[in-house]
Amino acid sequence: MDYVELSFKLNGRDTSLQVFPNTLLVDLLRDTLGLTGTKIGCRAGECGACTILLDGAAVNACLLPALKVAGRSVTTIEGLAKADGQLDVIQESFMKGGAVQCGFCTSGMIMNAKELLEEEPAPTDTDIKYAISGVLCRCTGYSKIVQAIKTASQAKKQTK
Ligand code: FES
Ligand code: FES
Repeated sequence: MDYVELSFKLNGRDTSLQVFPNTLLVDLLRDTLGLTGTKIGCRAGECGACTILLDGAAVNACLLPALKVAGRSVTTIEGLAKADGQLDVIQESFMKGGAVQCGFCTSGMIMNAKELLEEEPAPTDTDIKYAISGVLCRCTGYSKIVQAIKTASQAKKQTK
């Protein structure tokens, strides 16, 4: 199988590399680009651990052929912090609110929360639960996760 050139924006940076046509995005991110913050749970679109943003929309990277992101913008958990290392308000909120246990689901939760807060800055609990409904937390710490997203939405409002 021949390599194919793939160009896309990754965490704000123009990125070009050679990929096999059957490479999945999650493998490209983790194995080739070293962005292991995106996790793999099921490889079947069931657990949400591999959620990234594609042009701002939360998608499962385990279901997406890498070539589908050509010319588009991909954001992973590593792309949320500012260049000076300051964490995104959602990351801060998860950390301070104790919304992380083993951490396996955390990047998936945060990427779904990111999409939600971009679209709905003042979400209800129902909005939040719906937004993270595609992500499974095996540690079952859902109430702190919902609270952390709520806290992040309030903190965002105050900084505006
Ligand atoms: Fe992608 Fe589970 S690893 S949804
Ligand atoms: Fe362990 Fe969610 S914190 S799976």
